[in-house]
Amino acid sequence: MKLIIDAGKKEGYISPEIYGHFSEHLGRGIYEGIYVGEDSEVPNVDGIRKDVLDALKEIEVPVLRWPGGCFADEYHWKDGIGPKEQRKKMVNTNWGGVTEDNSFGTHEFMRLCELLGCKAYINGNLGTGTAREMSEWVEYMTGTGSSPMTELRRQNGREEPWKVDFFAVGNESWGCGGNMRAPYYADLYRHYQTFLRNYDPEHPIKKICVGPGTPEIKWTEEVLKACFEDAPANAHGFMDYITIHHYVVPDTWSHKGSATAYPEELWYKSLNKARFMETIIQRNENVLNKYDPEGKIALCVDEWGGWYDVEPGTNPGFLYQQSTIRDALIASLTFDIFHRHCKRVRMANIAQMVNVLQSVLLTEGSEMVKTPTFYLFKMYKNHQGGEVLANYLTDVETEGFGEEKEDAIPVISASASEKDGVITVTITNCSLTKEETLEVSLLNTGAGNVINATILSADSIHDFNDFRKEEKVTEKPFSAYQVKEGSLSVTLPAHSVVLLRLK
Ligand code: AHR
Repeated sequence: MKLIIDAGKKEGYISPEIYGHFSEHLGRGIYEGIYVGEDSEVPNVDGIRKDVLDALKEIEVPVLRWPGGCFADEYHWKDGIGPKEQRKKMVNTNWGGVTEDNSFGTHEFMRLCELLGCKAYINGNLGTGTAREMSEWVEYMTGTGSSPMTELRRQNGREEPWKVDFFAVGNESWGCGGNMRAPYYADLYRHYQTFLRNYDPEHPIKKICVGPGTPEIKWTEEVLKACFEDAPANAHGFMDYITIHHYVVPDTWSHKGSATAYPEELWYKSLNKARFMETIIQRNENVLNKYDPEGKIALCVDEWGGWYDVEPGTNPGFLYQQSTIRDALIASLTFDIFHRHCKRVRMANIAQMVNVLQSVLLTEGSEMVKTPTFYLFKMYKNHQGGEVLANYLTDVETEGFGEEKEDAIPVISASASEKDGVITVTITNCSLTKEETLEVSLLNTGAGNVINATILSADSIHDFNDFRKEEKVTEKPFSAYQVKEGSLSVTLPAHSVVLLRLK
């Protein structure tokens, strides 16, 4: 098998925001996982866990989406500002029916973004909120002059406006966000987005429209049609992004399967479902190419990752799951797809950052665990802001499970990019059982010295990192490669990901 990388052919810019995260008021995602409050015994900065902050800085989070998800369409932002003891409580009807005390609100989220040095992506409430409420939230956060909302912000201790980079009008409006039909949503989108004012002309807010929830393109087609109809040509559908949500559910929605104790037969099935992301993206690109041939509107995959049965004994509404090497491979295959489609896919947010679904970090009291997905993000961060280099696989074998091999997939997946004169190559061996040797040819470059090589691998496909135990799946130095003239020979153990950086 061969991987040919042509450094002379640049295929597009990798927007750092495809390495974004999502954090919803769901289970222990925000409370406990990120926010413990200033009086907590867990070391914190303004109530935000220090261990979590330090870990997230290692992976260079570029953007964070908040407050939901389904929660967003029932979230009333004014309940989450002002003195904490006076904040209104609510019941989180989507996620476990628990009481939400609103102690983590706009100010706390913006502080988190400041501490992480990341962009803020706010998801507005279309389902149960008014256009006025949405418009006032933007005014509260970004307004500059003297107005009721800017004065309220100042009263609550924040003089300067914040920068809000992205704002979505609703979430899954075809489902938990209101069970709307596409033309109805499109009209509401056009209406509400009108009142998302730009108070800082230097820093216009990018508007995000809700995209499809199924692999079918009916929703995208109907929403774009309605948003472009009778609209000025330069309005480009009144949007900067349209979303895609795609989860890897290995078995069925009613029986998703265990996050750790999965049968081998679900291995290729799971990876295949991750690979299906490419089909979904392509279908949406085709529709976008029709309405927006110039490529102004981007795709934002603002929910993706593995979704399994919750850990035994945990609240089913909290979506808490462990994470194995399988999740790291779901992430590497997904990023390889995003890189191939980098011209349209300009933001993505893994679901979710801490303690919910495919998290990079898990917490238990004052303990924290870095999952295999964390290490994958750490290795892949080298692609952020790079130029994709054309790369082709030849003579690639496929592998599947059992006699029939119905779920067969190419055993190797790879990405190559260049930034600041350094070439980053990441290679995944998807095989359940077999070590693979790959010849890597580098064309049109003098870069031949490996300056950094690491690997993420596991003895067993079920390995994960557990609390109070030595890490089983972690990034380690890698040396199973040989440099020849203009090429490399790389040997990857079964189910592993390798990072090579060349100069
Ligand atoms: O990420 C969990 C949930 O999945 C989100 O709240 C919702 O948007 C999606 O259905």
